[in-house]
Amino acid sequence: MTLRIISLATLVCSLAAAEDPHPKKEAAITVTITPEAVEAGNKLFGTACAGCHGQHGEGGRGPKLNDGGSIREAPDERLLASITQGVKGTGMPPFSFPDAEVRNLIAFIRSLSAAAADSVVAGNPEAGRAIFYGKGQCGSCHNIRGNGGLLGPDLSDEGAARSVLQLRTAILSPAIRPGGDYRGARITLHSGQKLEGVLRGATNYSYELQTAAGDLHLLAAEDIREIHLRKNSVMPSYADRLAPPEIDDLVAFLAHQTVRPRGSSH
Ligand code: HEC
Ligand code: HEC
Repeated sequence: MTLRIISLATLVCSLAAAEDPHPKKEAAITVTITPEAVEAGNKLFGTACAGCHGQHGEGGRGPKLNDGGSIREAPDERLLASITQGVKGTGMPPFSFPDAEVRNLIAFIRSLSAAAADSVVAGNPEAGRAIFYGKGQCGSCHNIRGNGGLLGPDLSDEGAARSVLQLRTAILSPAIRPGGDYRGARITLHSGQKLEGVLRGATNYSYELQTAAGDLHLLAAEDIREIHLRKNSVMPSYADRLAPPEIDDLVAFLAHQTVRPRGSSH
């Protein structure tokens, strides 16, 4: 098992305090994301928070905390205030945990939405690569830096774009992307020709269909006799196809895929 501990540990506020000649008056809080802090935060979250926010921060009575968006942007001070003071006028109650425990909670919440490339990941990326291009056949649909198929989204920057949880969910429960830009489709033309692939664009007058071979067909609506759209993703679920450690390896491999320079924080 390889563990990677990364740069979120150095917090924006502590950097700012070192450089800013006018230090802020509010007490700064320093959250260090270590496997131990995330683990301890996870335990406490399970007993005190999961009832409203879900075991993995997926939401419920309270909002989801794993979206990689607003929580990732929120400064530690705001998370601290929300937890210790509650959010007035909402169902979010105040908690009077010791500082150290609040820091663990914040480390855990950060770990839910941090980019996978910035997270502590179990699993072996080299083993993951072998599964990606071998047994898992991910590479028949997905391209990474020019290597692989074209039926699914390019994953070259996937480690920066997604959290660990999002990667795991994408592999275990594939879902049609919100824009439907890889929606599986079978099209029959008036000419009798049949085409199968994913839609890469559609207007009232035309459809762009990409086949597994990578050919892009621009089809006029008037030439189409029948179009059948898949209700679920063309990507199969791997929940029953791969063992949990193999899923970990794949997640570790994808977490390493970034186009940004190593060590930068966004
Ligand atoms: C009784 C339900 C409930 C429990 C228990 C609860 N929360 Fe919340 N939480 C909420 C609700 C509702 C909101 C949405 C508040 C709002 O509308 O801004 C929220 C919001 C939040 C936010 C986002 C605040 C922001 O600044 O955007 C964080 C972080 C949070 N909760 C953390 C926690 C943690 C950590 C715990 C456990 C120690 C916890 N919550 C327990 C209901 C709950
Ligand atoms: C038959 C083609 C196919 C195979 C095989 C496949 N995928 Fe996918 N994958 C897709 C498509 C298409 C999407 C986009 C989701 C959608 O809209 O259906 C996707 C989405 C994803 C995403 C989310 C990316 C995003 O930006 O939405 C990840 C991560 C991913 N796949 C990883 C994998 C891994 C890892 C494997 C192998 C274990 C795999 N895929 C196998 C077609 C495939």
